[in-house]
Amino acid sequence: MYNQVVTRRQWPRWSDLQPLLRLRPESFSLDPTSRRLASAASVRDLRRLAMRRAPRAVFDYTDGGAGDELSLRRSREAFARVEFEPRVLQDVSSVDATTTILGRPASMPLVFGPTGFTRMMHTEGEPAVARVAQRAGIPYALSTMGTTSIERLADEVPGCRRWFQLYLWRDRAASRDFVHRAASEGYEALVLTVDTPVAGARRRDVRNGLTVPPTLTLRTLAEGATHPRWWFDLLTTEALEFASLNRFDGTVAELAARMFDPAATMEDLAWLRRAWAGPLLVKGIATAADARLVVDAGADAVIVSNHGGRQLDRAPTPLERLPEVVDAVGDRAEVYLDGGVLGGADVVAAVALGARAVLVGRVYLYGLMAGGEAGVQRAAEIVAAEIEATMALLGVTRVADLRPGQVHLRPA
Ligand SMILES: Cc1cc2nc3c(=O)[nH]c(=O)nc-3n(C[C@H](O)[C@H](O)[C@H](O)COP(=O)(O)O)c2cc1C
Repeated sequence: MYNQVVTRRQWPRWSDLQPLLRLRPESFSLDPTSRRLASAASVRDLRRLAMRRAPRAVFDYTDGGAGDELSLRRSREAFARVEFEPRVLQDVSSVDATTTILGRPASMPLVFGPTGFTRMMHTEGEPAVARVAQRAGIPYALSTMGTTSIERLADEVPGCRRWFQLYLWRDRAASRDFVHRAASEGYEALVLTVDTPVAGARRRDVRNGLTVPPTLTLRTLAEGATHPRWWFDLLTTEALEFASLNRFDGTVAELAARMFDPAATMEDLAWLRRAWAGPLLVKGIATAADARLVVDAGADAVIVSNHGGRQLDRAPTPLERLPEVVDAVGDRAEVYLDGGVLGGADVVAAVALGARAVLVGRVYLYGLMAGGEAGVQRAAEIVAAEIEATMALLGVTRVADLRPGQVHLRPA
């Protein structure tokens, strides 16, 4: 027989409620951006915030890839196929994510990679990204297509480990000039990007009619009504233009066609090796054969990359190619990877498979669009916490103990 239980109820008393109240200061913040950022639990959450904050064309320029965006999707899917091999009952009470990058200490195996037009995502732009990199203890690579000059970034954030990313220009004197400026402003390393002989076909930009700087058309004015804060920032701060290049008005594809040198060869790399005394990284390596050749030509490091899926669609998937490049290069050069990384577990997987560190682009750009410097900071915090948690759950306390055997790629 079923006895009905009668629940006795009472009015809550303040003395009972008080110990339950654990209100976080962020939830009281009057600033809606801080509240939103505090509630972002992952980089994907920051991406969703970014989508709401930035105009469509700007978000799409950042988020999108080339062609059918197959490379972009495959890069992320490869990380989704990662299955870890954890060990239990290891003492992981103290996890140390520090490592060395180009022989110097870094707080974790992460680098903020080069991205162009950064002030378009948020007016705080490159200096904001560099300040976060400095606080986080990781390097940041300024792009040739940056919207803050080599000199200004060095001036504003002198303590950041600054790298400079170079394209080989049709005008070799211009390339040489960049190298000299980077050297005289104390940049630590040069990153030569080699996967852009011509511009990738960015269909979202064509559909959105994106120009740099963004132009005021009927469509963008209509957009302005839905993203007033972004337009207000754009129109009331310093003009958005390439700080290291001469002024240019046109589409991204037009700019690339004007500047990139489709005739660049391995001899140009050898020239650059002679012109730059510091560490030289070659970015955009897809195969073991090319990795060997650029190391033969004097590269200190290679970055296995498909430019975030923004150049050759159907290019090799970086995480899948990483082991063969690591094998080919041996201990002659450091191997880095980028493309598709969206969190700390991805970083750990790539490092276990042999990458010295991982570069990210969109991770910090989503943060930047979501909330300027505070958003980049949130992105860095999320990734750092995920790296440590993943290492602990794997049973590993030091980066040097990450091994290929700890990662399987499940069949596609
Ligand atoms: C908006 C945007 C702009 C970029 N601009 C450059 C650039 O100027 N030079 C360069 O070498 N790579 C550039 N990249 C590629 C990144 O350095 C990096 O290879 C890529 O973002 C890695 O993929 P992820 O965004 O998934 O991390 C850009 C990427 C994005 C998303």
